[in-house]
Amino acid sequence: MTRAKTPNFDPTAFRAALGQFATGVTVITTRTDSGQLIGITASSFNSVSLDPPLVLWSLSTRSASMPVFRSNSHYVVNVLAASQIDLCRRFATVKGDRFAGVSHAAGDTGMPVLDGALAWFECHNRSRYDEGDHVIFVGEVERCGVRENASEVAPLVFQAGGFHTIGPLE
Ligand SMILES: Cc1cc2nc3c(=O)[nH]c(=O)nc-3n(C[C@H](O)[C@H](O)[C@H](O)COP(=O)(O)O)c2cc1C
Repeated sequence: MTRAKTPNFDPTAFRAALGQFATGVTVITTRTDSGQLIGITASSFNSVSLDPPLVLWSLSTRSASMPVFRSNSHYVVNVLAASQIDLCRRFATVKGDRFAGVSHAAGDTGMPVLDGALAWFECHNRSRYDEGDHVIFVGEVERCGVRENASEVAPLVFQAGGFHTIGPLE
């Protein structure tokens, strides 16, 4: 296999190009053995496999939550509705207890599922891949669900550094 050429762009240009790809927004949540609740906002979520059911997301090596996500056996991917933009900001910025005042319930795996999430995936922490300045997490989905009336609820969308929502094209 040949090696990649040295990039002819700077990190700002790379970010600008990546940002054109519109994504949903998730909060990845977990609970440590000692009962501490941890969560981070992530837009890097994607599907991997239907059989077995696998999903992925990636976490910066600079994340303070890295040790917990590396070692915990389970986590939940919570897909946010547009009305949950405050949760998106909260789980990206707050230092300390991000769950203070946030309603949630334990899923079948015991991990926290955020009330009002459009959909959720309770994952076994199947594998991790160190790549550059992020770690790719592959989760094996043990349980998943969709919010009641989800088809009537607007999703939160992130694109070009801004928050949006979507409606049908036709
Ligand atoms: C819309 C949005 C998407 C984000 N996606 C990711 C992501 O996919 N991976 C990541 O590591 N950080 C992502 N972040 C940044 C983290 O949420 C943020 O750095 C957080 O404070 C990390 O928490 P920690 O350092 O306490 O672990 C995103 C932030 C926002 C606002």
